[in-house]
Amino acid sequence: MGDRPELIFLIGYRGSGKSSVARLLAQRLGWPWLDADAVLEQRCRRSIRDIFAEEGEVGFRAHEAAVLTDLCRLQQHVVATGGGVVLRPDNRHNLRQAGLVVWLTAAPVTLWQRLQLDPATAQRRPNLAGGGLAEVEELVRLRQPLYTECAHFTVDTQVQAPAEVADFIWKLWSEGTRGS
Ligand code: S3P
Repeated sequence: MGDRPELIFLIGYRGSGKSSVARLLAQRLGWPWLDADAVLEQRCRRSIRDIFAEEGEVGFRAHEAAVLTDLCRLQQHVVATGGGVVLRPDNRHNLRQAGLVVWLTAAPVTLWQRLQLDPATAQRRPNLAGGGLAEVEELVRLRQPLYTECAHFTVDTQVQAPAEVADFIWKLWSEGTRGS
């Protein structure tokens, strides 16, 4: 990865603000942005909820990895990934190799509250483990080490608005700051 990578990935749990921040960051950079879940739905011509219902989570993860492989070939894009993209080691490796990876965090209760308010939740976010706040707490706990391993930088979205988060990432990027 060079000092100013030409591809930026946002990772993080559902409700961490990846799509909102991706749009604003892309605007700032003058690049297009993509939502990996939306690309997957267009390719499969089905909603994520239907893919989960028909092929289970295993089928969904295979589609997700295939889409990610293609997205990793892009240049000058900001990509908002799905919250579970870090589950596969090959995805984590591909993300880090292809661009700058930024992990957006917030407390589980905040993530859960945001999900309740997001109209995309019904189609895009089938239950993964029982639903509710308990699911968010459990999966955030399990995924924490995977997000940590994959990310070059971590940005807390708990109190900052998406525009501030986007600005902060833009500064990191423009200064060529090296992450972990
Ligand atoms: C998932 C997150 C969703 C979507 C799918 C699985 C997850 O993406 O990919 O429902 O495992 O956390 P968002 O993070 O964009 O909601």
